[in-house]
Amino acid sequence: MIFQLLTFALFMLLNSNNYYSCWASSTKEVVTCSNIVPLTQRAHNISITDFGGVGDGHTLNTNAFKEAISKIRQIAKEGGTLLYVPQGVYLTGPFNLTSFITLYLAAGAVIKASEDPSNWPLIAPLPSYGRGRDHPGGRYISFIHGDGLEDVIITGENGTIDGQGDVWWKMRRHRTLKYTRPGLVEFMNSRNIIISNVVLNNSPFWNIHPVYCSNVVVRFVTILAPHGSPNTDGVDPDSTSNVCIEDSYISVGDDIVAVKSGWDEYGISYGRPSSNITIRRVNGSSAYAGIAIGSEASGGVENVLAEHINLYQMGSGIHIKTNIGRGGYIKNITVSDLYMENVKTGIRISSNAGGNADDKYDPNALTIVKGIIVKNVKGVKVHQAGMIQGLKKSTFTNICLSDINLNGETGSKTPTWKCSDVSGIAYQVSPLPCAELINHQSGSCANYSRH
Ligand SMILES: *[C@@H]1O[C@H](CO)[C@@H](O)[C@H](O)[C@H]1NC(C)=O
Ligand SMILES: *[C@@H]1O[C@H](CO)[C@@H](O)[C@H](O)[C@H]1NC(C)=O
Ligand SMILES: *[C@@H]1O[C@H](CO)[C@@H](O)[C@H](O)[C@H]1NC(C)=O
Ligand SMILES: *[C@@H]1O[C@H](CO)[C@@H](O)[C@H](O)[C@H]1NC(C)=O
Ligand SMILES: *[C@@H]1O[C@H](CO)[C@@H](O)[C@H](O)[C@H]1NC(C)=O
Ligand SMILES: *[C@@H]1O[C@H](CO)[C@@H](O)[C@H](O)[C@H]1NC(C)=O
Ligand SMILES: *[C@@H]1O[C@H](CO)[C@@H](O)[C@H](O)[C@H]1NC(C)=O
Repeated sequence: MIFQLLTFALFMLLNSNNYYSCWASSTKEVVTCSNIVPLTQRAHNISITDFGGVGDGHTLNTNAFKEAISKIRQIAKEGGTLLYVPQGVYLTGPFNLTSFITLYLAAGAVIKASEDPSNWPLIAPLPSYGRGRDHPGGRYISFIHGDGLEDVIITGENGTIDGQGDVWWKMRRHRTLKYTRPGLVEFMNSRNIIISNVVLNNSPFWNIHPVYCSNVVVRFVTILAPHGSPNTDGVDPDSTSNVCIEDSYISVGDDIVAVKSGWDEYGISYGRPSSNITIRRVNGSSAYAGIAIGSEASGGVENVLAEHINLYQMGSGIHIKTNIGRGGYIKNITVSDLYMENVKTGIRISSNAGGNADDKYDPNALTIVKGIIVKNVKGVKVHQAGMIQGLKKSTFTNICLSDINLNGETGSKTPTWKCSDVSGIAYQVSPLPCAELINHQSGSCANYSRH
């Protein structure tokens, strides 16, 4: 009898395995862009504790990180190194990474930022911004920083990088800072970067900021900062190409993802665009935008695809934003399969972003906004359907909306559209879009991605 039961159990097990593999192979493979960066194995494995790291939450570990990374830099030619951060809370000042490193945060590992600004060195402003974003002049270096690197991985078992941003948000609100706040993770002039399976908490400023980079993957990350925390954008690809952001949850105080490329005359003269950006299977919440482009896009932004996005409690689902003096272009942007709930404005394409870098901007530098496709959108509890307002002297063209259904709050009136200085097409959009967009009963935006 027992034998029979065992046989039966074995049969079921084999059968279920078969059933599973059969089901798995007949289902479509999960689409991913993450293969743009190879996932390299490292020859060496060292632990932060080998360099005097103490995870008691009080000891300052800045030197332990500096020494470990300096060691890894010395042996860079020997196959790369994994820097293991075990369970524990490692307080530290900011530190620079090096090439061929995997910063590995074990389960329960927390790398926690020092709250004392005197531990934070200043670095030069970005040439494409001409100044710090908060203040003229330099800016605090990001908590985890990299410049001129290749092949860097930050990963692990969902350990946490904690920016302890509260002190910085307070200083910002009380106007007691002289320089721009530090970001959490910033890479400059780098390529082949992966950030995956980590939790980012309470960044003082932008969370993940690749600038002048190429081939960047952000995957399986959780990014958290309170609604109302100033400028805590989730991921900001900035003058960066070939970016893949997937399978992440981002709930922050500013835009969830914002693609940028420099600010006004500084961005125009630096002239480095952001291109080939994919954002897929990302969920989140914010009082600002879900998928944002700009407003600093003076070096140009093109070829952005955002799909399978779920947003809750939002300022706007999509916000493409510019202003007089920005220059550059925003073209070939596709957002599809977007679900949003409890949103102030569903779709915003606007030219009143405000905030010029300084008074030297060129009033004739007007952004070309062309080839924006928004399709398969479902919104519930949407207060205003959309605002699509171009520049008086630079009409936004080839805007295409299709298969969009936005519902207002129960009992309240239908959400409305507001448009000016735009042209384009709308297919099956409810509520009916503004007259500036030529309304068709059927069709698609398929021709528009070729702008
Ligand atoms: C690296 O070393 C740590 C111990 O310091 C160990 O727990 C971990 O499993 C190692 N990781 C790899 C990938 O070898
Ligand atoms: C870290 O990198 C920045 C920017 O490249 C540089 O200014 C700074 O000196 C570096 N800090 C250390 C401790 O190496
Ligand atoms: C880490 O979090 C991701 C979701 O962001 C999840 O898919 C993954 O299973 C988690 N990994 C571990 C080791 O807990
Ligand atoms: C995003 O939300 C969808 C729908 O609720 C869910 O199936 C998916 O697992 C979520 N993904 C992440 C990364 O949170
Ligand atoms: C963007 O992708 C296109 C098509 O895959 C490719 O031809 C182009 O070189 C990429 N651009 C950059 C800057 O890598
Ligand atoms: C437009 O962007 C998409 C990515 O969304 C890309 O696949 C396509 O090649 C781009 N089209 C042109 C004309 O560059
Ligand atoms: C879209 O392209 C198809 C073929 O590529 C063409 O037949 C059709 O007329 C085009 N539609 C519009 C509105 O341009």
